[in-house]
Amino acid sequence: MKTYKIAVLKGDGIGPEIVEQALRVLDKISELYGVRFEYEEGLIGGEAIDKTGTPLPDETLELCKRSDAILLGAVGGPKWDDLPTDKRPEKGLLRIRKELDLYANLRPAKVWEPLISSSPLREEVVRGTDMLVVRELTSGIYYGEPRGIFEEGGKRYALNTMKYDEDEIRRVVRKAFEIARKRRKKLTSVDKANVLEVSALWRQVVEEERENFPDVELEHLYVDNCAMQLVRRPSSFDVIVTGNIFGDILSDEAGVVVGSLGMLPSASVGDRYALYEPVHGSAPDIAGKGIANPIATILSAGMMLKYSFGMDSAHDLIEKAVERTLEEGYRTPDIWSEGTKRVGTKEMTDRIIYNMERLRDETP
Ligand code: IPM
Ligand code: MG
Repeated sequence: MKTYKIAVLKGDGIGPEIVEQALRVLDKISELYGVRFEYEEGLIGGEAIDKTGTPLPDETLELCKRSDAILLGAVGGPKWDDLPTDKRPEKGLLRIRKELDLYANLRPAKVWEPLISSSPLREEVVRGTDMLVVRELTSGIYYGEPRGIFEEGGKRYALNTMKYDEDEIRRVVRKAFEIARKRRKKLTSVDKANVLEVSALWRQVVEEERENFPDVELEHLYVDNCAMQLVRRPSSFDVIVTGNIFGDILSDEAGVVVGSLGMLPSASVGDRYALYEPVHGSAPDIAGKGIANPIATILSAGMMLKYSFGMDSAHDLIEKAVERTLEEGYRTPDIWSEGTKRVGTKEMTDRIIYNMERLRDETP
């Protein structure tokens, strides 16, 4: 039987409880599709700091490197907030991205029709929105050198460097074109080419790559304009490709446009490794209460099936089961509204799994 090894990094806060539910969904997939998943756990984030003194122990990195894919919960919490930047749980995330060369961060944001009223935008504006932000994840201002806080002439100053070489731009742009080709064939490249040289080069490389994808419609937007268009005409976007910091900001904006943060999955992929995690954080305030929304993590596991294992129909089954469960009115507290059924983390997953079974029978 086909066997896949999955590194499971539960992390902090609600991380463990939501990852546990995503594993139950994967177990159901294994049963329905006749594949085997082997899980091995590793430490990351605050828990790793407490137990080993570092947010990303070498052992965890080794585990990731010998696995077929990585499933991550969330990292961080108030307990570690006072640590210096390079010792914080978040550093574990930044380091794993860099060490595994996970250069393309895929963040889908789509409206779930049953949840459309939870968008802050009017229904007629947001209806039909289904986009994917492809964010460059291992370079740009997040990693550029030199960086630091210095002092000169009795005055402090700080410096960060935004730097991209053409290969770094090209590989993520290519990935975005390829993904767009499999979707609605529309790509929006976002930059600040009217001001930044880095963006001027970005735009040149995008133009060069466009030759290889004549079937994909391309538009360039300045980042400030894109921020506006995302709230004015969200449904007109298909795939958006952009650099690290613009992608950080725009993907949060795209997320809020479509409603709940508890619904947003992500994939961070390179040429060798891939990591899947919900976009939301560790929500320490509700950790351990059994009320966290497991859907973003379940959908992240679904992305793993599609992008790492080529199991597109298993991915679609999970999406359909989530949609059906929402149509039936099941809601965790973060997405609950009058007239719907309030359930906890486990009951929500139970119902999704039940619907996976039912829908699998209906769609051979
Ligand atoms: C994200 C987060 C991270 C980032 C932080 C936690 C370092 O905001 O994944 O978007 O900025 O990349
Ligand atoms: Mg962010």
